[in-house]
Amino acid sequence: MHILSLFLKNFRNYDEEKIEFHPHVNILMGMNAQGKSNLLEAIHYLSIFSSFRNAKDREMIKWGQPYFFLEGKILRNNGEYLLSAGYHEENKKILKVNGSQRKKIKDVLGVFNSVLFSPEDLNIIKNGPSARRRYLDQEMIQLFPSYYYSLIQYQRILGQRNNLLKEIRGSKNKLELLPVWSQQLVNQGSMIIKKRFEVLQKLTPLARLTHRKITNGAEELDLDYHSLELKGEENLKTASLDKIKNIFFSQLDNNLVLENQRGITLFGPHRDDLKIMINGIDARKFASQGQQRTAALSLKIAELELVKSEIGEYPVLLLDDVMSELDQNRKNHLMQYIGNKVQTFITTTDFDFKQKEGNIIQISRGKIENKKN
Ligand SMILES: Nc1ncnc2c1ncn2[C@@H]1O[C@H](COP(=O)(O)OP(=O)(O)OP(=O)(O)O)[C@@H](O)[C@H]1O
Ligand SMILES: [Mg+2]
Repeated sequence: MHILSLFLKNFRNYDEEKIEFHPHVNILMGMNAQGKSNLLEAIHYLSIFSSFRNAKDREMIKWGQPYFFLEGKILRNNGEYLLSAGYHEENKKILKVNGSQRKKIKDVLGVFNSVLFSPEDLNIIKNGPSARRRYLDQEMIQLFPSYYYSLIQYQRILGQRNNLLKEIRGSKNKLELLPVWSQQLVNQGSMIIKKRFEVLQKLTPLARLTHRKITNGAEELDLDYHSLELKGEENLKTASLDKIKNIFFSQLDNNLVLENQRGITLFGPHRDDLKIMINGIDARKFASQGQQRTAALSLKIAELELVKSEIGEYPVLLLDDVMSELDQNRKNHLMQYIGNKVQTFITTTDFDFKQKEGNIIQISRGKIENKKN
């Protein structure tokens, strides 16, 4: 799929711009702090309806303005879509597909898919489990809008269950209320766990293959989803939803005393981890910086392939400051891989950046100067 054009109004440092894009390569060129990453953030917003930089909607409104508005023209195998999203300080989010309003984010997810790769993606490997869960979730919500719904519900129930645990911490008072919350948590949480296992079953071979190619066969990448801290006693990988529910519920039930002491929910998909191994060794702890970077690249390319296999077309690829971070070998691999099959956006501060075809979009202080190659 492609994004053909984007209209921005009051988004970050953009005032009002309409930009037409090249179907293959778009180089966003400009000095530091001109609006390159902001433009990628705007494009990516139309995929996940939140910021990849974890910013709140309100923070993306141009300073001093009351709202922002984005509209992208999307070309997919089955036709064109006009996707609009905005945020007003007072009226909150506005979402539209082809001009007709949609109430919920889950109703607009999946219209436009994009995968973003930035130097911070090294954190997927380096940081704690939440970075890896976020990596999975950001991709999965674009592919499975009902997964987004489960995540939101789960967060809500988790918050309420945690409030109760905090309130009764250390006392037996109201402890009998907990299983009701546990059951609700288990119902939504088990769907999340099952879906993550399913996705990883598809993602893992894709990531392994990519990683083998980039490292010329020197490294084997492995992904392993660890759920509910079961440490291999129970194999959840191929378990049915009911089985996962049973196991999750008994995990909570067996640890009531512990949770009561700590005053917080200790088990569930919000605590799970995706272990990433290189040649059998935990990449988070032992891989070199370069190895970690390669693994992050493999995961991102695998993400592209996963989207392709799920929906039959490639998502749009957004590369923020990535080129300067990769060595020549990995850069070549990436460019070769992209070829003409994926519409790609590349930010660079390098005014000598050479590209055989595509658009160069010059950005200066939130203004676009569109120049054909
Ligand atoms: N809500 C906002 N309103 C107005 N300006 C903003 C807002 N949020 C961020 N900015 C400004 O946008 C500018 C450009 O940010 P951006 O991250 O896009 O830069 P960049 O071109 O990617 O630079 P770099 O090469 O350093 O990564 C920043 O200087 C920032 O102060
Ligand atoms: Mg930037």
